[in-house]
Amino acid sequence: MTSPQVQTEKKTQATNLLEVKKLKMHFPIYKQGIFQKRLVNHVKAVDDISFDIKRAEVLGLVGESGCGKTTTGRAVIRAYDPTAGEILFKDADKGNVDLAKLSREEMRDVWKNIQMIFQDPYSSLNPRMTLEQIVGEPLKNYGVLDGSALRDRVAELLRLVGLRPEYMSRYPHAFSGGQRQRIGIARALSLNPQLIVCDEPVSALDVSVQAQVLNLLKDLQGQFQLTYLFISHDLSVVRHLCDRVAVMYVGKIVEIANTEDLFEDIKHPYTEALLSSAPKPDPRARTKHVALQGEVADAANPPSGCYFHPRCRYATDKCKTDAPPLREISPNHWVSCHYSEELSLGA
Ligand SMILES: Nc1ncnc2c1ncn2[C@@H]1O[C@H](COP(=O)(O)OP(=O)(O)O)[C@@H](O)[C@H]1O
Ligand SMILES: [Mg+2]
Repeated sequence: MTSPQVQTEKKTQATNLLEVKKLKMHFPIYKQGIFQKRLVNHVKAVDDISFDIKRAEVLGLVGESGCGKTTTGRAVIRAYDPTAGEILFKDADKGNVDLAKLSREEMRDVWKNIQMIFQDPYSSLNPRMTLEQIVGEPLKNYGVLDGSALRDRVAELLRLVGLRPEYMSRYPHAFSGGQRQRIGIARALSLNPQLIVCDEPVSALDVSVQAQVLNLLKDLQGQFQLTYLFISHDLSVVRHLCDRVAVMYVGKIVEIANTEDLFEDIKHPYTEALLSSAPKPDPRARTKHVALQGEVADAANPPSGCYFHPRCRYATDKCKTDAPPLREISPNHWVSCHYSEELSLGA
């Protein structure tokens, strides 16, 4: 007989749609010599990260620009071939698969079930295709629908994202940024994907329409029990949408917790600095201001010890030499800081 603990473990694992284990994505840096290119270093854009996403869960991935969020998203969907690690996915058709080990050919079937929503709705839509072609393309390519059934499904998808089906024969240039992002969302939804990676889906939009698109993503998630990996540099955006949040710094996850726990009980100085450097809805609100000075460390030449130590207001000598491991300091709250227990953080 298995122990109750093993059983619960099995149960939680059973609900995981995605399990990323020790994922690394290193990009080689070459230097042109006299006769040939020489490999001189690697950009460790993603360096040994692990996380999972349950079905119908929204996991946020936050951090400043250059921290490795997009690379993580792209490696997970196998737009890149990861340097190392496992990407265990419960595919609706293939069953349990490690995406890191599949060939491009085998991935084609999996891409039916994994979609991506991109940051820039201007460059991500083909300007020479009509809305009908853009939204209907995945259905057509996979041979799911054609003819009038395809048209009907496109009309339904457009309605779902708040666009009028009459617009179907128009081209992307006729639409605003927010509308274009809705088109991208309709396309991503077309095949009923199991997982959607949203990479800064509102960052390129006017502030006035950001909330509308976020609300749409939230509504659709609730309506269809969608699973998102939601990437954003903006903590206030993830707060409203995500069940859990992972904070990334220079290719590593430095804190991960349920959204409420993360915002109410910050345990990493980087998270504190991120949160307090974000613009406040009320500029007069008095908060402890922790400026996030300097720049994200270079992932090709990271600092010694804790990668955040040169920018950390609490850093000690130990932080300069010892890399802090990711530890579970309270249930499901993981953090990599030597002083999580001692520091009283909050923004
Ligand atoms: N194709 C690539 N080749 C080399 N370096 C890259 C590549 N893509 C991203 N990087 C580097 O990896 C790091 C992380 O980038 P990225 O994942 O785009 O961060 P984010 O999405 O958090 O802004 C950066 O230092 C970036 O310059
Ligand atoms: Mg990015």
